[in-house]
Amino acid sequence: MKKKLYVATFGCQMNEYDSQRMVQMLSSDYELCKVPEEADLIIVNTCSIREKAENKVYSLVGRFRRLKDQNPDLKIAVTGCVAQQEGRRLQERAPFVDIVAGPQGIHSLPKALKEVHRGRQAVTLTTLQDDFVIPEIKAPLPEKDAVRTFITIMQGCNNFCTYCVVPYTRGREVSRPPAHIIDEAVRAVSQGVKEITLLGQNVNSYGKGLGTTFSGLLRSICNISGLKRVRFTTSHPKDLTQDIIDCFGDLVPLCEHLHLPVQSGSNRVLKRMNRKYSREHYLDIVERLRRRCPQIVLTTDLIVGSPGESDDDFEQTISLLKEVEFDQIFAFKYSPRPNTKAARFNDQVDEEIKSARLTQVLELQNEISLKKYGMLVGRTVEVLVEGVSRNGRGQLTARTRGNHVVNFHGPKELIGTFCNIVVEKAGYHSLVGSLLDPSSAPLHNGSKVFTLPLS
Ligand code: 5AD
Ligand code: SF4
Repeated sequence: MKKKLYVATFGCQMNEYDSQRMVQMLSSDYELCKVPEEADLIIVNTCSIREKAENKVYSLVGRFRRLKDQNPDLKIAVTGCVAQQEGRRLQERAPFVDIVAGPQGIHSLPKALKEVHRGRQAVTLTTLQDDFVIPEIKAPLPEKDAVRTFITIMQGCNNFCTYCVVPYTRGREVSRPPAHIIDEAVRAVSQGVKEITLLGQNVNSYGKGLGTTFSGLLRSICNISGLKRVRFTTSHPKDLTQDIIDCFGDLVPLCEHLHLPVQSGSNRVLKRMNRKYSREHYLDIVERLRRRCPQIVLTTDLIVGSPGESDDDFEQTISLLKEVEFDQIFAFKYSPRPNTKAARFNDQVDEEIKSARLTQVLELQNEISLKKYGMLVGRTVEVLVEGVSRNGRGQLTARTRGNHVVNFHGPKELIGTFCNIVVEKAGYHSLVGSLLDPSSAPLHNGSKVFTLPLS
C-alpha cells in the first residue's frame, strides 16, 4: 500500500507547478491525502516574495510538529523560496524538519527521503548552481481531470530588480529545451487539458543559450492539435519584442490577455528598481499591443511605497493607471526582502504612507475595473468552464479568453467544455451571465474575434 503525502503550497503558479512535480516524483511510493493528520510525509512548499513569509512558515511547521508525537515515522519537508533563504537556520530553529530543499533542490527529494528513512538526521538541499539543468521527470503525470494546466518553461531570474528576492532564491535563469516542453504539452492535451499556461519568472527571455526564442516556442505550442487556449506569465516589458506582440495577432490559440507588470509609473522609481525600461517605453508597448490585437486585455503588478517614492512619483503611477486602464491590477506595499539592494536603501517610506497609497490605487482601480468589466455586459462571450464556483450560489465558474472570471448557472456536465454566455452583470473582479443555447456554435472560430454584440 502506498504511503500518504500531504502538500501545502504557498505563492505563485511556479510553486503550484513545483508541488505537482514533487507529487509526480514521489508517485511510486506516495499518494495524496486531504488532511495533514493522515500523512506519512508533509511537504510545505513556501514563498518569500513579500512580507514576513518566514514567520508564517515557522508557525505552520510548528503545528505539524505535534503530529510527529502521534506518528513518529512522519517526515516533514520544507521546500521552495523560504527554504532556500533560511537554509540551515531553518533546521536550527525547527530541528524536527527532516528535509529543507530550495527550488533547485526539490529534484533530489526522493533521494533525500531515502536517506532520512535510513536514519540520517536531516538533509539540506540549498546549493544554487549557475549551470543548473531542469531535470525531466519520466514518471506519469498525476491523475488529473484538469481543464487547464501550467508548464514551467524556464526557472530562475537574471534581472536583479532591486526589490526582488527571486534571483537569490531561484538562482540563475535556465530554459528547458523546447522538445521537453512540447512533449509535456502534448501529453497534457492527450489527457484532456484544454488550456495551457507557460510559466517562468520572465518568459520573454526564454531560449537564451538554446538558440531559440520565446516567440518561436509560442508558435510551436500553438500548433499542437487539440490545444484550444494558450497563455503565458510572467512577462518583463524590457524583453517583450515585436515578435511576441505579433503572436497576439497571429496565433489563434493564444488568448487575448497579457499580464505585464509595470511596477511604477515614475521613471525615477523604475530606474531605482533596475527595471531597464521607461514609462514611455511601457506605454509604447501598450499602444503596439492594442494596434496588433485590439481586443487584448491587459493586467499588471505594481508596488507602492518603494524606497524614495515621493508624492510626485506616486502621482505618476496614478496617471499611468488612468492612461492605460488595465482590467485588473495586483498592487502591493513595498516590503524589504533579505539580501536585496532596495532593503539597504536609506530612504524607506513610512508604513502609513504605503497604506494610504495602496488604498488610493485600489479605489481608483475598482472604478476602472468596473468600467472595463461593464463594457462586456450585454455581450456574448466564449468561456471555458473550469468547475463549480466557490461563491456558494451553486454556480459554475468559467473564464473568457481575456481572463475574466464568469459565474453562471448550468449543469456540471459543462465542466471542461467551451460554451457561450451572455454577460448580465459586472463586478470588480468577475462577471455574472447566463448560458446561451448549448448547441450554439463556438464563437471563437479562428477569426481572433471573440466577443459579439448581442443583437
Ligand atoms: N515588495 C512588494 N512587492 C513585491 N513584489 C516583488 N517583490 C516585492 C517586494 N519586495 C511584487 C511585484 C511582482 C509581484 C510578483 O510581487 O509587483 O511583480
Ligand atoms: Fe524579480 Fe525582477 Fe526577476 Fe521578476 S524580473 S523575478 S521582479 S528580479
